[in-house]
Amino acid sequence: MRVQQAIKTNRSIREFADQPVSREDMTAIVNAGRLAGSAKNKQPWHFVVVTRRETLAALSECGPWCGHLAGAAFAAVLVVEDLLMPRTLTTPFDLGRASQNMILAAWELGVASCMATIYEPDVARQACHIPGEMDVPWAISFGYPHPDADPRSRPPRTGGRVPLEEVVHWEEW
Ligand SMILES: Cc1cc2nc3c(=O)[nH]c(=O)nc-3n(C[C@H](O)[C@H](O)[C@H](O)COP(=O)(O)O)c2cc1C
Repeated sequence: MRVQQAIKTNRSIREFADQPVSREDMTAIVNAGRLAGSAKNKQPWHFVVVTRRETLAALSECGPWCGHLAGAAFAAVLVVEDLLMPRTLTTPFDLGRASQNMILAAWELGVASCMATIYEPDVARQACHIPGEMDVPWAISFGYPHPDADPRSRPPRTGGRVPLEEVVHWEEW
């Protein structure tokens, strides 16, 4: 899959087929996150890969929109030492880059995904035995799309994008 095609066809999928992702493919996906560039090359991240059904169920209780984690083939839980320091917000930016790498690398393998914002980090820390001093701001569900939710056969009707002319300003505002 070409990068342009991956970008244009990828959408968040929250319903997954009951089919595991191979260890090799899971490794390739999180490795794409590891390879992302980061501010000052700090690579501030750890990724906890979760396949255990009971841990995924616990993670799905971490916020109002985390439910899709319960049915994922696996989740990558994003862990950083200090999310909001330095105050330049480079760490959230870095996590965005790593996440998008993982999402697109997965999509090339036919593996769909969806971000989850962790509103209850203590629940996530406990479920994954993450040390108390670490921040756990987001997780990503991964899995083969459920046939009823595959955007390649049934494009979503919501969540379109603002037209190019509205967001791109050539030469000046
Ligand atoms: C930082 C971030 C946090 C998100 N958190 C959630 C979430 O908690 N639950 C969820 O279902 N989707 C979450 N999403 C997915 C967005 O809702 C989704 O990307 C957006 O609606 C656009 O839809 P699309 O990805 O299908 O194009 C998140 C996305 C980002 C970038």
